[in-house]
Amino acid sequence: MAKRDLLSITDIDEDLPSLLERAHAMKLARRRGDLSATRPGRYLAMIFEKPSTRTRTSFEVAMTDLGGHALYMSSKDLQLGRGETIADTARVLSRYVDAIAYRANRSEDMAELAQWSAVPVLNALDNVEHPCQIVADLLTMYELWEGKLEGHRLAYIGDGNNVCNSLMLGCARMGIDFVGAIPEKYRPPERIWHLANRFAARWGSSVEYVTSPKEAAKDADILYTDVWVSMGDEQQAAERQAAFDGYRIDAQLLAAARPAARVMHDLPAHRGMEITDDVMDGPQGVMWDQAENRLHAQKAILEKFIPPRGSGSSPMGTGRLRGSPPG
Ligand code: CP
Ligand code: NVA
Repeated sequence: MAKRDLLSITDIDEDLPSLLERAHAMKLARRRGDLSATRPGRYLAMIFEKPSTRTRTSFEVAMTDLGGHALYMSSKDLQLGRGETIADTARVLSRYVDAIAYRANRSEDMAELAQWSAVPVLNALDNVEHPCQIVADLLTMYELWEGKLEGHRLAYIGDGNNVCNSLMLGCARMGIDFVGAIPEKYRPPERIWHLANRFAARWGSSVEYVTSPKEAAKDADILYTDVWVSMGDEQQAAERQAAFDGYRIDAQLLAAARPAARVMHDLPAHRGMEITDDVMDGPQGVMWDQAENRLHAQKAILEKFIPPRGSGSSPMGTGRLRGSPPG
């Protein structure tokens, strides 16, 4: 069986409903003390080229819950950091582990690792997408609205970055109307916009941009934001802060949304920039649930991409042993 990668949320568009159901069931089971140890003896390598609190911790705890083990690798400490190629790293790690989670600076490197890896590669964030985050975000909405996502409206306010790209696609796929208040220069790439529109046409949702955050917030069930200065964008900090002035989620903007609206943020937040303290700490914020849900979503994703031992579908060990017969 060919291995499957999770590089974009579009790689799991068909699986999203079942992933959310499974993640929710595993969350409830964990609360009862059942860790769902369905993947004993399986290994996950995690290569990080950028810092992480949630993604790293949730992958590691998820893998341990499942009965397996996760290995954290900073790219600086690998031979990758001193010139070993991505292809050679992929070939070697594939001989040890059952999947590789990768947080990459460049989506081209993500694609290259996937090309050479014999085991599934899971995108733990790159400059274009953050699909695992969006599974957790959809799980948070699934719980808020008791499984019925269709027909709700999400307003994304701020930078059209990796999180926004995957979110726009994920919302369109799940029947959630997406409205973006994003300065023109910082909107998602055309390719993502077109894909999202295709999902919207197929799944009965809509995708649109408006010019003001207030217009986006009107009738919204969710206000969602992310940092204005992503990892790697630090050189543009001043320019970005100027461009996003007026795109902050504060109490006044929240008051323009539906009375039962919730506020989401993938975190880490830069308090006082894209979101105010009172909104972060107020009763409408659900970012801590989102952060927790990274764990449950990760477990469902890992189960989907890593088969149980003995199922015969792992590419591990496909190298011929010395002395074994050819063929
Ligand atoms: N939301 C998210 O991916 O957080 P980390 O950068 O801490 O992993
Ligand atoms: N857009 C942010 C997300 C962090 C989880 C970044 O890339 O830094």
